[in-house]
Amino acid sequence: MVYAIDRSVITKTGENGEHLSSVSATYIQAREIEQAGVTAGMRVLEVGSGGYNAALLAEVVGADGAVVTVDIDPDITARATALLAETGYGDRVRVVQLDAAHVVPGEELFDAIIVTVGVWDVLPAWLSQLTPEGVIVVPLRMNGVTRTIAFRRDGDRLVSTSTEVAGFVPMQGDSARPERILRLPDPQGGVVSLRFDVGVPDDPRLLDGVLATGRSEAWSQVEVAGSESFADLYLWMAGFLPGFCLLHAEEGTTLSAERGWFPFGVVRGDSFAYFAFRPAAGGSGSELGARAYGPHGEEAAAAMAAQIRAWDRHARRGPAPTFAYWPAGSGGPGEASGNVAVLEKTHGVFTISWPAVS
Ligand SMILES: C[S@@+](CC[C@H](N)C(=O)[O-])C[C@H]1O[C@@H](n2cnc3c(N)ncnc32)[C@H](O)[C@@H]1O
Repeated sequence: MVYAIDRSVITKTGENGEHLSSVSATYIQAREIEQAGVTAGMRVLEVGSGGYNAALLAEVVGADGAVVTVDIDPDITARATALLAETGYGDRVRVVQLDAAHVVPGEELFDAIIVTVGVWDVLPAWLSQLTPEGVIVVPLRMNGVTRTIAFRRDGDRLVSTSTEVAGFVPMQGDSARPERILRLPDPQGGVVSLRFDVGVPDDPRLLDGVLATGRSEAWSQVEVAGSESFADLYLWMAGFLPGFCLLHAEEGTTLSAERGWFPFGVVRGDSFAYFAFRPAAGGSGSELGARAYGPHGEEAAAAMAAQIRAWDRHARRGPAPTFAYWPAGSGGPGEASGNVAVLEKTHGVFTISWPAVS
């Protein structure tokens, strides 16, 4: 496991089996170091400790640089401290037990901050510790969809310089932002769970018994080839489709037995729809669309199909989206125009901009 570059090693599990800490997959560590542009002589803060990534950072910054790694969990900092000492990095990395929602005491500014835990917002403590030219790399959750984004300052806002797809364990402590889960029992047995980041339904009881109601579907006429990645379609939905949620269907549910569904959905009052595909009419590839449950399922499925068409028209063949963040107290993004999704966060406003397709 340790030598598999694309696997993380779980180092701590919670009471309910949830992953609390891991040593990230080595390709993710390498990419974050690259995204942050870490070079010799830099001062770097790592949020979330394991030991190994801090040792890599110590090698990159060299004797003239500095590496500080913080973790909220005393078991993790104790382990990292011991392993770093054993492997000769004891005096090259400072390990601090701290909730990273707070400033690291006794430190100057950092040239790079690498966050290795999934977060919902860019925290003021981090920006207050970053040099004016510094880079911060954060795995940011945007309505349930996470991208690891490198940001640099541009006036009073942050602008993205690179983006990667990667998953991390969620942030704990004062800035934790757990998702809300709605569990829908299937009359066949098992449970379908809907996970909301924002936009939790006002009255979740409206969905009671929804899996026992009639089904409907809507198709978009948008076709994809087997080899095409459409990961950005989820990001498009997360930005533009109100009621967007993640979906998990337990074994035994009707949904889990169905081939051709994706773990994303949308709720409209007493109904919900989920992403689906079927063989394209022409014979090759698949057509994207939505299937739904509930009295207004058709409406929910149609809303999803409409956004699939919008993604196809405005984003699918264009350049990748860019991201910006306006901390509270800065000018803010103003009136959004074009294909810009605006997400309100606790400490600022975040935008996802899809460049026009030429
Ligand atoms: C993926 S692990 C870090 C992996 C490490 N960077 C490595 O690759 O070796 C994420 C860590 O973030 C820590 N964490 C979670 N919430 C935190 C918080 N509020 N402040 C500091 N650390 C936190 C967890 O305890 C966990 O150990």
